[in-house]
Formats: sequence, structure tokens, C-alpha cells
Amino acid sequence: MSSSPLSRRTLVKAATLAGGTAAFGLPQIVRPTPAEAYSVPSKMRWWYQARFGMFIHFGSYSHLGNGEWAIYTGGWSKDDYQTQVSAPFDPARFDAATLAELALAAGMKYLVITAKHHEGYAMWDSDVASFTDTTGATPYNLRDYSGYRPDLLADLKRECERRGIAFGLYYSILDWNHSSQTVDYDATFSTMASLSARTAYIAAMKEQLQELLDRYDPAVMWFDGDWCGNPATPALDDWWIESDGQDLYDWLISRKPDLIVNERVKRDLGLGDFRCPEEKVPPAPLDRPWETCVTMNGAWGYDRSRENSYRSVRDLLREFVTVVSRDGNYLLNIGPRGDGTVTAGSVNILSGFGAWMSTYGDSIYGTTGSPFTTEPEWGKVTAKRGKLFAHVFTWPADGVLRIPRVRNAVRRVHLLNAPATPLPYTVRGGALHVTVPATAPHADVSVVCVDVLGTPTTAPAGG
Ligand code: GLC
Repeated sequence: MSSSPLSRRTLVKAATLAGGTAAFGLPQIVRPTPAEAYSVPSKMRWWYQARFGMFIHFGSYSHLGNGEWAIYTGGWSKDDYQTQVSAPFDPARFDAATLAELALAAGMKYLVITAKHHEGYAMWDSDVASFTDTTGATPYNLRDYSGYRPDLLADLKRECERRGIAFGLYYSILDWNHSSQTVDYDATFSTMASLSARTAYIAAMKEQLQELLDRYDPAVMWFDGDWCGNPATPALDDWWIESDGQDLYDWLISRKPDLIVNERVKRDLGLGDFRCPEEKVPPAPLDRPWETCVTMNGAWGYDRSRENSYRSVRDLLREFVTVVSRDGNYLLNIGPRGDGTVTAGSVNILSGFGAWMSTYGDSIYGTTGSPFTTEPEWGKVTAKRGKLFAHVFTWPADGVLRIPRVRNAVRRVHLLNAPATPLPYTVRGGALHVTVPATAPHADVSVVCVDVLGTPTTAPAGG
């Protein structure tokens, strides 16, 4: 959502409504390693190993440059929004190859783009009859509503897959443009006109989703806009309930069994395939695979007022490493301008990630969270078969890095950026004492690699 005070307030309210903040109420003392806590379904293997993806918020709101909630936060009428925001939206300079190349160079392995956000505007040439503007005559989608002719989603999918990047789509369940719904500022964001309108909308939504499956065969479907309360039977404010979320998930999987779906078919109920905290890093691994989505500057959709408020590469990199060390994926967002161009602030951060990933990617891809129950003072830990990675945020002043011991035999220790040079170490008091150079090899996150036999573990033998 955008960073406006109104939308922030309402989101907090939404999280409370949906029991959202309980999301992190997991025991923090016991910290099972991922392998003990859950097994990753085989369809999710690639996703779990990927660890790093790009989120793209792009829609007709991008033209206005006031975030993707603009229709809501700006109090727009549907008509005015359609004519003043959606109609002039023209992504003439959108370049799928440039975007896919940015993601690739940053080290990202998958991408999720908004096919339809809360504003209701479809970024593909949807033929589903009820998604029109208020005249009822013009379909409310990129092709019919603008002069833009290319199939933007197809172009992006092609350019991603050419580069080995998996392609995913975001879809908002609530829809502020659809005739069945009106913006609701008091309760749950959108109010249904009637229960029969609800039934018709859900059917139409599935028709749109069928189009997306047929035309773009996404690897991930990423839902949102599911906040309303969860009574036993639907009401006009609380019109999307647990059974709808479950039904939607089953419906999708029956069509595409290997599709990966986030939990927001109806969040915090254990539905979908992975949990998705937002702009938050849980204090410990969660109870199932998870991904946190993060903005670079507090805005999802392009927001010109946030253009001078980008977080630092260091801050984001450390957050990324922290997420992976707690066994999560990191979905880093960009919000292109209405013409499709990517902001300089986004490009700068992506290239910062790319520079780091090109040297240190081995400490990210295919890793699980740390095998230790507590986190070291100097930084974070990731692991995979044969390797334990110490991600050092605070380089030791005394030239000795103390890495807690795993049970595995140690073969060798080295800086990940200088693999040919072994670092001397001794074992004392349950830790490896590694002699490191006086200066950190990377200003933000340096990585010391411990080569071990087998998969790093702290578990007692046979336990
Ligand atoms: C929030 C916002 C939405 C954004 C999403 C990303 O749910 O409502 O605008 O797309 O976060 O997770």
C-alpha cells in the first residue's frame, strides 16, 4: 500500500481484523531448524531454493504517482478515476527485456507483477464481461482502455523465462472498480452490493483467473485484498471468508497442480502454500515456508513523494540476509513510473544487490536458515550441504571471528570472496576462532565460509 497516513491506519486495522499481527506470535525460544520444523513440498523446491524475487507494482495508478491505493486514499469517484487516472495511463516506454535484465542482474530468480490491483484495472486484455468502466461499455483493461497494444504480461513472461526467471502474477480479490463493490472507509475496505452480486463477482473473478492461467501459465499466484472479517457465512462487509479462500485454492490447484499460491487467499488461516509477512522480518523462522515482501521506499506503486526516501543498499541487504538466515524468501518491490520506466532509486538498489550477489550468491541460493538457535552478535548464518556461511555485519575489531560450532567435521575456512586462501582457525569453547583480515572485505555484509562434511547441524548424533 502507499505510505499515506490514512492507508497506514487502515491497514493496521485490517491486520487486526484478520488477526494479522498474531502472525508472528510464534514461540521464539525454541528454534527448530527448517528441516525439523517442516518439509518443503516438491512443487516448491525451486521457489525455496530461489530465495530472492522481484515484486512489481504496475497499474493505472502508476500514472498518477500517488501509490496503488490512490483511488481509495484520494477519495476518487469511480468515473473520475477512470477518466483522469486510468484513461491517460500509457506505459509506452515499458520494456520487458530491461526489467527482466534488471531482475537477472540483481540476482533474482523469480518475479511477481500485479495483473490486477485493488483499483480493478486489468493489465491484460481481459474478455470477462463484467469488468468494465462505469459506462458498462468499455472493458477496464490495458488494451481496451489505453492506446497500448503489446501484451505486456506475455512480453515480460517471455523475457523472464529467457533468463531463467520464473514468472508470477499478483491478483487482488477486492476490486474497487467492479460494479459489485464500493470503497468502504469505515469497515473492511470494500462493501458488496448484495449476496447475489458477490456470487456473480466470484464467478467473474475465476473467469479472469482462468484467463491468466491459460494465457500466462504463472509459476506463482500471489493474492491480496482478502482482509475482511471471517464470519461463518458471508455478509456485505465481510464478504470473503475462509471457505472462499479454501475453495479458490482448491480450484487453482485442480487446474494447475504445481502452482504456488500465497496464503492470502484468506490470510493467517494456514491456507495457501506459504506465509507472507509484509515489510516485516519475523524474529525467528515460521512454521511453514515463507516470503516477506518489502518496499525500497515505503511505496509499492510509484509514489513521486517517496522518490527521495529510498532505504540504503546496506539496510536492505542486511534485511535480505536476515530473512534468508531465518529460512525465508525475499520479494523486493519496484514501482515503475506510469510510462513504464524504472526509477533511478530502484535501479541503484538493484545494482547494489547485483554487485553483492555476483560474489556472495552461493551463500544465498539453495540455503536453509541458520542451524543455530540463537543468532551471533556479529551477524547472521545460512547453511547448505557442505557449507556454513557466516554473514558478518560487524567485522571483529580483534581480528578473530567466533563462529559457533556445528557437529560436522570442518574441512576448511575461507572468505567467500577469496576461496583460494584458507583462513587459520582454532576450536575453543564451542566456537571456531577464525583469524580474519583486519578490514572487512565488504562494507555491508562480508561472508566467511566454513566448509564442512555433510549438512551443517547442531543436533546430537542420531537425534
Ligand atoms: C498491501 C497493500 C497492497 C500491496 C501489498 C503488497 O496489502 O494493500 O497495496 O500490494 O501490501 O504486499
